[in-house]
Amino acid sequence: MFDGVVELGNGVVMMPRLGLGTFRVRDNEVVYNVLDAALANGYRLIDTASSYKNETEIGSALQELLPKYHLNREDIFITSKLGPAEHGEEKSYHACCQSLDRLKVDWLDLYLIHWPGVQKLKHDDPRNTQLRKQSWTALEQLSRDGKVKAIGVSNYTISLMEELLEYATIKPSVLQVEFHPLLYQQEVQHFCRIHGIHLQAYSSLGCGKLLDHELVVSIAAKHQKLPSQVLLRWALELDTSVIPRSVNINHVAENSRLFDFALSGEEIEALCKLHEGHHFCWDPAGIH
Ligand SMILES: NC(=O)c1ccc[n+]([C@@H]2O[C@H](COP(=O)([O-])OP(=O)(O)OC[C@H]3O[C@@H](n4cnc5c(N)ncnc54)[C@H](OP(=O)(O)O)[C@@H]3O)[C@@H](O)[C@H]2O)c1
Repeated sequence: MFDGVVELGNGVVMMPRLGLGTFRVRDNEVVYNVLDAALANGYRLIDTASSYKNETEIGSALQELLPKYHLNREDIFITSKLGPAEHGEEKSYHACCQSLDRLKVDWLDLYLIHWPGVQKLKHDDPRNTQLRKQSWTALEQLSRDGKVKAIGVSNYTISLMEELLEYATIKPSVLQVEFHPLLYQQEVQHFCRIHGIHLQAYSSLGCGKLLDHELVVSIAAKHQKLPSQVLLRWALELDTSVIPRSVNINHVAENSRLFDFALSGEEIEALCKLHEGHHFCWDPAGIH
């Protein structure tokens, strides 16, 4: 059994290893009900982004729900992300302040650059490099100003991480990437481990499409668990953290029951062998 939290930035920030993904979780009532179920089931991390267009709803729901669960702002961990249309130094700083306003909080626990490319620019446009560097400068300033506790990136490849580490004066704490058995990003994870960067997995359920995979189903049956729990536990066993998304409150509850069983070494290995470089979400390869 392992801890439900991971230390970021040499133990300065403690991040829960289970969080609630909120991509496409939008409607006011849905957001409220899903967050209610999540908090009731022990989730303490919420993953959002300016591009998910739900920060306002999440902020309002939390204002009502935190008192309901006798929680303070300090008891929960909120991640948001800088959108691809918000790159650039001033724009990024302002975008984060807007996320804070919408979420009705004074700080974010983690702020990520969502995507290494800039909206409307081609993958090989040299302005991508300049603008994401400027964005990182803004994230460092936001961190110095206490508006964000930890900073990181998402969808960066190893070469983009190397580029970032050349100019970063504050090292990224987290890299959030698509990570599941069909996209077992072993090299990226190895790179992160060497540099003390935590790898956070997204689309752990393959956006729902891995739930009926034969091997996943058979491992789940053996443990009397659900396929979703096997996929999430696999990611946890590999030292990542997970942020499954659901608008179904029963699924939200199921996805929290990950800490009362373990996969065998053979099962973990067999799932790793499914790797075929398959992206269910967006693929950053080719961005310079
Ligand atoms: N940084 C990035 O670029 C990026 C990209 C993608 C995602 N993310 C983050 O990662 C989160 C998760 O990834 P994701 O949204 O792509 O998908 P995901 O979590 O892999 O899968 C979500 C799908 O699985 C279904 N599901 C969830 N739990 C289930 C259960 N116990 N049983 C059966 N079905 C279940 C959901 O349907 P129901 O709603 O019906 O349960 C939904 O269709 C996102 O919400 C977002 O916060 C980040």
